[in-house]
Order: sequence, then C-alpha cells, then structure tokens
Amino acid sequence: MAPDTHSTTLSIDEMATFCKRKGFVYPNSEIYGGMAGFFDYGPLGSEMKNNLKQNWWKVHVTSRDDVVGIDGSIITHPKVWVASGHVGSFADLMLTCTKCKEKIRADTHIEEKLKIAADGMKAPQINGIIKDNKLMCPKCGGAFEEVEDFNLMFTTNVGPKRNDESIAYLRPETAQLMFADFRLVQENARLKLPFGIAQMGRAFRNEISPRAFLFRCREFEQMEIEYFIHPDKVNDCPYVAEWMDYELTVYDASMQREGKEMKKMTVKDALASGTIKTQWHAFWLAHETEWFRSLGANKENFRIRQHVDTEKSHYALDTWDLEYKFPFGWKELQGMANRTDFDLQQHIKHSKADLSLFDEETKQKVIPYVVAEPSQGVDRAFLVFMFDAYEDDKERGNVVLHLHPTLAPIKVAVLPLTNKLNDEAKRIHDSLRKEFSCFFDKSGSIGRRYARMDEVGTPYCITVDFETENDRSVTMRDRDSTKQVRVRLERIQETIWKLLTGRIKFEQAGTPIQKAADN
Ligand code: GAP
Repeated sequence: MAPDTHSTTLSIDEMATFCKRKGFVYPNSEIYGGMAGFFDYGPLGSEMKNNLKQNWWKVHVTSRDDVVGIDGSIITHPKVWVASGHVGSFADLMLTCTKCKEKIRADTHIEEKLKIAADGMKAPQINGIIKDNKLMCPKCGGAFEEVEDFNLMFTTNVGPKRNDESIAYLRPETAQLMFADFRLVQENARLKLPFGIAQMGRAFRNEISPRAFLFRCREFEQMEIEYFIHPDKVNDCPYVAEWMDYELTVYDASMQREGKEMKKMTVKDALASGTIKTQWHAFWLAHETEWFRSLGANKENFRIRQHVDTEKSHYALDTWDLEYKFPFGWKELQGMANRTDFDLQQHIKHSKADLSLFDEETKQKVIPYVVAEPSQGVDRAFLVFMFDAYEDDKERGNVVLHLHPTLAPIKVAVLPLTNKLNDEAKRIHDSLRKEFSCFFDKSGSIGRRYARMDEVGTPYCITVDFETENDRSVTMRDRDSTKQVRVRLERIQETIWKLLTGRIKFEQAGTPIQKAADN
C-alpha cells in the first residue's frame, strides 16, 4: 500500500459521477427520474461495502472479548421509539417558502448562506437570523414562514388495518434495539460490565434536504456499538493505557467558543488537561480514528470535535464527533455520545422491565451507563475511503484508486497477453477465484487493461504471456508502484494471500523484472 498522501481533491458531485461511471453507486431508480436521498450500490460498490462492513465487524466484534453483536429487525414496537424520545423530538427545523412552498432544512440553509454553525439552534434564534439577514427562498426568492418542527421518522402501518393503532416506524438508528434486547443479550452471552453490544444495518430518516450524494441520505446503514460500563467506573478503562501516545487532532467546545484553532494532542494530554473527560471516550475516539487509518485513510483529514451545549442531543451528557475533511468542509463521520443511563432508564420506565444488573462487589443493582456510543454511518465511511484513495495520476494518464487491499472490490485481475493465452489464463483465474474476488479481462491493450484495474482499485494484476508456458511463471503488477515481478504458477495463490494480508512487501513477491508487459 502506498503512503496515504496521494488523494486528488474532487468535488462531491464529481465523486458521484465517478462512482456511477465505474459501477460503485448509482442514483436509485434513475430510469424513473431517481428518488432524492436513495442510492443503489453497483457491482463494485456492493463488494467494497461488504468488505468495509466485514472488517468493521471483525475489528469491533469478533476480535474483542467484550463486544457481541445482534441483528435486530427494522420495524420494532412503536413504544421503543416513544421511550427513546424519537417520536417526540427527533426533528429538524424546517423553512417553508410563502410563495412557492419549497421546504428546506433551516440550519443547513443558514450554514450555507452565512457560514456560521447553526446545528442545534432553537426556533426563535433561527427565525431571528432569517429575518435579520433577510434570507430568502433559494428557489424563487420568496420570504419564509416561521420555522416548524419536522419529525424525521418514516411511518408505515403494520397489519391489514390502516389507522393510528397500526402505525409503526422504520428505525432511524440501529441503536435502540441494543437497549430493548439488553437483558436477553447480557444473559445469553454471559456478559459482565464493561461490555458492548454491536449492530450494523439499515436506518431510515426522512431528511428534509438530502444532499451531498451519500453523505445525507434517507436510507443508509449504520455500524453502532452501545458500550455499557458500571456507572461508578467512568474512568476505569482497561484499554486506554496502550493508546496514551496516540495523537488526535482536537477541537473542543471551548476552542470553538473562543474562535481558537484545533490542535494536535496525545490521548494522555487530552485526558490530563480535562479536554476529554473520560478514559472511555478517549479510548473509543482514538480507536475509531485508527480504524480508518488502518484501512488506508489519511489521518490528517480527521479530527475530533466536541459538541457545544446547544447542539447536544436530548440524551447526551457529552458528545464528540469524529469528523472528516470532506470537499464541502469538516463534517460528522461518526457520532460518539455519552448517553449515561438515559436509554435504559427510559425503557425501564416505559416497559416496566427490570434492566438492571447485579453488582457482585457492592451487592447492589446498578443501571449501566453508556459512556460512549461509537455510531458510524457505513455510507459516509465508504465516501471517506473513496476520497482518500482517489488520485488522478497525470503521469499514467488515468485515475488510480489506491484502495486498501482489504476494501478493494477486486483483489486480483488475470490478463492474458493475447487471445492464444486465454485458456491458460482462465485456468489461473478459475483457481484463484475460489479464494479471492478475481476478474478476468482479455479485451484491449494490456496498458488499457491495467488502467481499467487501476481505476477500480484492483491491487494486483497477473499477466499471462508467451514466457508462461516455458518458465511456468506469470508477471504480477503492483497497482500503486506499477512495479512488476515474476511469480511461479504454483506460488501465485500463496503470494497473493501474503500481499493482501501485508505479510510481505511487493518487492518480496517474486523476481523483479522490467516493465516488459506494461505497454
Ligand atoms: N445512535 C446514534 C445516532 O444515530 P447520529 O449522529 O444521528 O447518531 C450516527 O448518526 C451516524 O450515522 C452519523 O455520524 C453518520 O455517519 C450516519 N448518518 C446519520 N444520518 C445520516 C444520513 N442521513 N445519511 C447518511 N448517514 C447518516
């Protein structure tokens, strides 16, 4: 993998065009004019998204002793969403034009027009800003009505009767099922505090103004963990020690209030100065930044930003977002709220179920705290990896997508130099595809075929040439460096495994050769 400094800046619209052209992501139902806020992942996009999710699950669930997963249903008892507060207050403020009746999200309109943070502003302040700055409808120039709340929950009816009693909601987050199933999961998996329950899956929000391609959709996926700790042990994180020297770019609430610049800090300094209040929050923020870096993202494009008081959700004591420098500015990539015992208490109150745990030490019942809730959108993570991988390589004359091999939708392409070599190449392809996602391409010049593979991020190409029959070897080409080595047929599979898992460098993969086949 090349150092993570190769990305070329392109706009979000250019990225959407690239994703569509190459088969990563399409606008949903485009033949009918599309549907705002809905997208379909194409052949390469769905492979890459699966790779991303599998790696997240491996790192966050199967390789940890303290986290287990669930896979809950999308529609759940409506009382779950009453208890969580979503039915009552999961809303954005909406502006309606008096003339053309266009409806837009108030805070993002203010942010775009006035370049000030408006997330979390209340209705009177928004109305004041709109009036003072004479902000008008972007479509027809008309004046706005007073802002109103717009609940983002999608509703449906369950069963044959369509009335108020049959209303149910498509989940707006995966999170609540970890609370609703808390008791069963804890008992089944015999979990002791501290522990986490993870889930990944679809979430739905009727966003007023879906925008920026995959960044704000109406249907998306989340990968979330509710991490439960003993309420008296918010500062006893057994994992934080090994992260103390990890450097984060920090933008806390006071820096934002005082107009100061963000700054780099180690986890140790952030904790010692009280910038990050709990060890658990510090651990998860560093862990999540590192997950992106470990998959090839550029760490310089990440920062952690603390919510200022006005933007905190109804359930949060303290929230930090992991943010990424998108082409349209620093934006939330992952939210990480300290939800205390808000959700469990709410579900205890509304369901009357006992969701406490027995603390062996104090011989008392406790309601665990969720001290940090790493909540990541799959689609935003997908965008990050695409942006950081994209390079318009002028020297090569084509785009090179430097995707980490773990994420790459195609791991290896097999290319016969001429049609006479198709059978041998097909045999190699058929044996490799049992192990890796593999692509066979016999059309066009070899240079054109390399370029096509560069553009979709395939880390390795194997060329079968006239020498193959004599020396029982093939040419293997590295996407990032374009270096080539000769590898014996019987060693191809093992060599690719070693390369994909980072156990060898490309130079160690075989006998170096000049770029004989690269023309
Ligand atoms: N359970 C907490 C929760 O859902 P959130 O900050 O509302 O918190 C978490 O959402 C993450 O889900 C966000 O950081 C983002 O990555 C993703 N997300 C939220 N709304 C989204 C949308 N409309 N489109 C795409 N991703 C979204």
